[in-house]
Amino acid sequence: MLDAVLPSLDELSTWMPWARQSYGRRDALLFLRDSLAAWAEGRAYDFSIRYQAQQDRHLGNVSVWYTSRQSRVGEIGYWVRTDEAGNGIATEAAAHMLDIAFNELDMHRVTLRIASGNIGSERVAEKLGFEREGLLREELEVGGVWLDHSIWGLLDHEYRSRRLSYVEAGFLEA
Ligand SMILES: CC(C)(COP(=O)(O)OP(=O)(O)OC[C@H]1O[C@@H](n2cnc3c(N)ncnc32)[C@H](O)[C@@H]1OP(=O)(O)O)[C@@H](O)C(=O)NCCC(=O)NCCS
Repeated sequence: MLDAVLPSLDELSTWMPWARQSYGRRDALLFLRDSLAAWAEGRAYDFSIRYQAQQDRHLGNVSVWYTSRQSRVGEIGYWVRTDEAGNGIATEAAAHMLDIAFNELDMHRVTLRIASGNIGSERVAEKLGFEREGLLREELEVGGVWLDHSIWGLLDHEYRSRRLSYVEAGFLEA
């Protein structure tokens, strides 16, 4: 993971609060420890993204978590190493999270929060059929700057009617 984060810091640090220029081995280990605890507690499910044919190269992370278990609402998040951007990796990884969210975790609604100006991530949301629902003002502080975020949503029946199009577009296998 460290090998993926370090050369991507310029881009990651623009959008992700954890991606400070000082990021190092200790930060990666803390993430892994928290991630294992989160899995065990059912708090969040983080996955590493790898090519099937090259499993020792970390491509990025993708996660799904409940924001309200009672209302069956969840959220997904992702990042991809900069030298692999534009290859469809985030879209494919996020589509897999939607399978898990709607089929295994029984979510009714999945959201994505995207910082204003993050065009690549907005495109991922659009390709998966998320609806842009509104603006969250100064939602997250990144590198000392409060960033507005758009909120995007996808409902379970929308996912079900779109899933075949994910397969046809190559985001998922049948
Ligand atoms: C944003 C990010 C996740 C995209 O990952 P990716 O694997 O490149 O995504 P995909 O290849 O699946 O799709 C990206 C799409 O955005 C488009 N895109 C990327 N940057 C763009 C830009 N500046 N302007 C217009 N389109 C852009 C790509 O062309 C592609 O669309 P297409 O398939 O229609 O050509 C990745 O760049 C990243 O991790 N960035 C830093 C962290 C981050 O922003 N995480 C998301 C937080 S919400």
